[in-house]
Amino acid sequence: MNIILLGPPGAGKGTQSGLLVEHRGMKQLSTGDMLRAAVKAETEVGLKAKAIMERGELVSDAIVSALIDDELAALDESTGAIFDGYPRTEAQAVALDALLAKHGRKLQHVIELDVDEDALVERITGRFTCANCGEGYHDTFKQPAKEGVCDKCGSTDFKRRKDDNEETVRTRMAEYRAKTAPILPYYEKSGLVTRIDGMAEIDDVTEAIEKVLNG
Ligand code: AP5
Ligand code: MG
Repeated sequence: MNIILLGPPGAGKGTQSGLLVEHRGMKQLSTGDMLRAAVKAETEVGLKAKAIMERGELVSDAIVSALIDDELAALDESTGAIFDGYPRTEAQAVALDALLAKHGRKLQHVIELDVDEDALVERITGRFTCANCGEGYHDTFKQPAKEGVCDKCGSTDFKRRKDDNEETVRTRMAEYRAKTAPILPYYEKSGLVTRIDGMAEIDDVTEAIEKVLNG
C-alpha cells in the first residue's frame, strides 16, 4: 500500500507516519527528514536547501523528486510507502505519478489532516525530538514518561528544529496554503482523498487513519 499524508506544518504527518511504520511495517518517506539529513551532512543538496528551509520556503521540485526517486529505487517492492511532506506542489504531484509508475507502485490513499492553523503554532514551537533515535515529543502534548529520558532509546539528548520558530512557521503555512493545498483537487478527481480531523487526540487520529486503510 502507498499513501500520502497531506497537511500543513504541525498537522501530525510525522507523528502518524511513525505510528504506521510501527504498526504496519511501512516505510516513511519524509522529504523534510531527508533534507535535514542532507543539511547536516553538508552534501550538495544540503548546501542548496539550508537557507531556503530556514526561511520556511520550498526547496526546488527537482531536488525533492530526485530524493524520492532514490528512496523508491532502494525500497523492497513488498514494503508500502508513506509519503510525508511530499508532494507539496502540483509539479511534484505530477512527478510522483511518474515515479510510482517507474517503480511499479500504485497510490491507494491521500489522507488530508484537517487542522486549525493557530493551534499548530503551539504544536510546532513546543516540539522536540530525541537526538539519538528521532522519537518525537512535545512540551505539553507528549512528554517522555520520565522527564529528560527518551522513552524509546533511553537517550538524554534532545533537539529542536531550527525552522520551528513562530515567524518561520507562518511562512511555512503560507507556502502550504499557496502551493500545497491547491494539489488536493488533483487527487480528488481520482477519488483518493479522505479528510481526517487532525485536531483530535493522537491515538484517535491514528484510529481514523487505520479505518481508512482497512477500507
Ligand atoms: P517538513 O519537515 O515536511 O515540515 P512541515 O511540513 O512543515 O511539517 P512538520 O514536520 O513541521 O509537521 P508534521 O505534520 O510532521 O507534524 P508532527 O507530527 O511533527 O519540511 C520542512 C522544510 O523542508 C519545508 O519548510 C521545506 O523548506 C522543505 N521541504 C520538505 N519537503 C519538501 C518538498 N516536498 N518540497 C519542497 N520543500 C520541501 O507534529 C508536530 C507536533 O505536534 C509534535 O510535537 C507532535 O508531538 C504534536 N502532535 C502531533 N499530532 C498531535 C495531535 N493530534 N494532538 C496534539 N499534538 C500533536
Ligand atoms: Mg514532519
